[in-house]
Amino acid sequence: MPKFEHHIFICTNQRPPENPRGCCDPAGLGQLQLLFKKELAARGVKGKIRANKAGCLDQCEHGPTVVVYPDAVWYSGVTVDDVPEIVESHLINGVPVARLQMREACLNTQQCEHRK
Ligand code: FES
Repeated sequence: MPKFEHHIFICTNQRPPENPRGCCDPAGLGQLQLLFKKELAARGVKGKIRANKAGCLDQCEHGPTVVVYPDAVWYSGVTVDDVPEIVESHLINGVPVARLQMREACLNTQQCEHRK
């Protein structure tokens, strides 16, 4: 079996509503991951690109959080409406969706303006 060309990790972590960090999938439905899988299948790339559920990716304040490897492109605030665009633009055509990319200043820092 050939290697996957991309892995998409979709945070499906849940926390109680009172948690100050929030979480990416408060309803626990995993809708984003299911939609990524559906969009990949519809484009016939299911065996080349894999959409995996992930636990907390430690970017909770920017969630829902998605990261695409090997590109290491991080997306924040992803909604179900954004999934077809990410698949078509980034994964099929190789152009990351700039409007959804997490700012470098926000990634893996304790001093981000979004952290409480
Ligand atoms: S809960 Fe999704 S990144 Fe932490």
